[in-house]
Amino acid sequence: MSNAVDFNPIDPRIVADPFPFYKPLMHGPPKQIFLGQTTTLIACYDHVVKALKDVDNFKNEIPKDEVNAALDVFGGAKVISFADEPDHSRLRKLVQRTFSPKSVRSYTGQTQSIVDGIIEKLRGRSEFDFVSEFAYLIPLYVICWMMDMPLEHRDLYQRWARGLSAIGATEPGQKVPLSFSQAQASWRKYFSEMIDRRLKESPEEDFLGEMIDFYRQDQMSYEDAVNMMMLVLLAGQDTTAGLLANVAKNLLTHPEQLELLRGRPELVNNTVEETMRFDNSVLLITRYAGEDVNFEGTDIAGGSPLFVILAAANRDPAKFPDPDTYDITRNTDEHLGLGLGLHFCLGAYLARMENQVALASWLKAFPKMRLSNPDAPFKYRGGHRNRALTELMVRVD
Ligand code: HEM
Repeated sequence: MSNAVDFNPIDPRIVADPFPFYKPLMHGPPKQIFLGQTTTLIACYDHVVKALKDVDNFKNEIPKDEVNAALDVFGGAKVISFADEPDHSRLRKLVQRTFSPKSVRSYTGQTQSIVDGIIEKLRGRSEFDFVSEFAYLIPLYVICWMMDMPLEHRDLYQRWARGLSAIGATEPGQKVPLSFSQAQASWRKYFSEMIDRRLKESPEEDFLGEMIDFYRQDQMSYEDAVNMMMLVLLAGQDTTAGLLANVAKNLLTHPEQLELLRGRPELVNNTVEETMRFDNSVLLITRYAGEDVNFEGTDIAGGSPLFVILAAANRDPAKFPDPDTYDITRNTDEHLGLGLGLHFCLGAYLARMENQVALASWLKAFPKMRLSNPDAPFKYRGGHRNRALTELMVRVD
């Protein structure tokens, strides 16, 4: 293994504060660690961009070797985030319209009503948990409305989302956690029953109706439809809620930035972008080398994983001057918080819109919002791939 480095992804200090651990990875050829197999860490901005654009060498599909068999969690069916061309584009094209900028603009009014309703319920309270009583509800309510999914099953969806995120803490060679397998069996049954029922009914023009049309026209297999429903329902929950909470956390811990924003509300959109750069809910994404390759001076074995550390690249001083400063006025163009290239976040416009509406709304509704326990350490769920605050108690009186 060339370029070994001491970086232990399961060290709890990395979840608590990953950024100091990225610094030794930023210089020279990509470093490597051993996690059941050699894993290459891609951290500096130029390397991350180059790796994400190089779809010939670096793949999303999990190699079907013995070590990774446990991670073949979708039973062989294709899922856009784990598919390479041509399957990836075939699947992505089918759902692209739902998440286009034009479609997302048309969801803004409903999103505003959802946020207003949540805020209305909090009126009169002097303190609440920003995570469970605000941030988590917004993406869940919005996606249930968009997909016409029954909101009374929200506990189930949240359990699946947690089960799904357990896979993020699983390394090559480790067994799939039971919580994931249980969630997977449960959502397969749930969506299969829903699809079977709808196949017998007259067509409807909602998201599932579209998936069923694609299935009938042979553009999508039955398994593809089940997986797509699950992915679209879950992919935007913890990620968006995690970012919403991080926006609040960073503004409340940088009071001068919060004051600046209150005086210049036109900075709302850039505040969301700066938080995606500075303190995102997604820290790293994975790729697999197709064949043996030398990348920027490091030998990478075919089939071995790469951790593409977006959160490190977003703090690269060669790209973002003074990168460890949270500055809502900075030029955030070309941050990598939503990925890059063919797999660029499908829900990017939706995630941005939800965050912008939510931030503008709580700024107005809670002019005195502050942390309840300014000295308490922040606690996170997740791991070195994704992380989200477990709680953010705020006072608003
Ligand atoms: C702040 C919130 C979000 C963040 C930080 C985020 C981040 C990301 C990133 C970094 C990727 C690239 C993964 C890769 O290249 O391997 C991605 C892909 C994806 N995201 Fe998001 N995401 C967010 C919200 C959403 C939402 C709201 C949805 C949909 C409802 C969504 C659906 C997806 C899907 C389906 C993919 C896979 C796209 C593909 O492989 O072509 N995301 N996301």
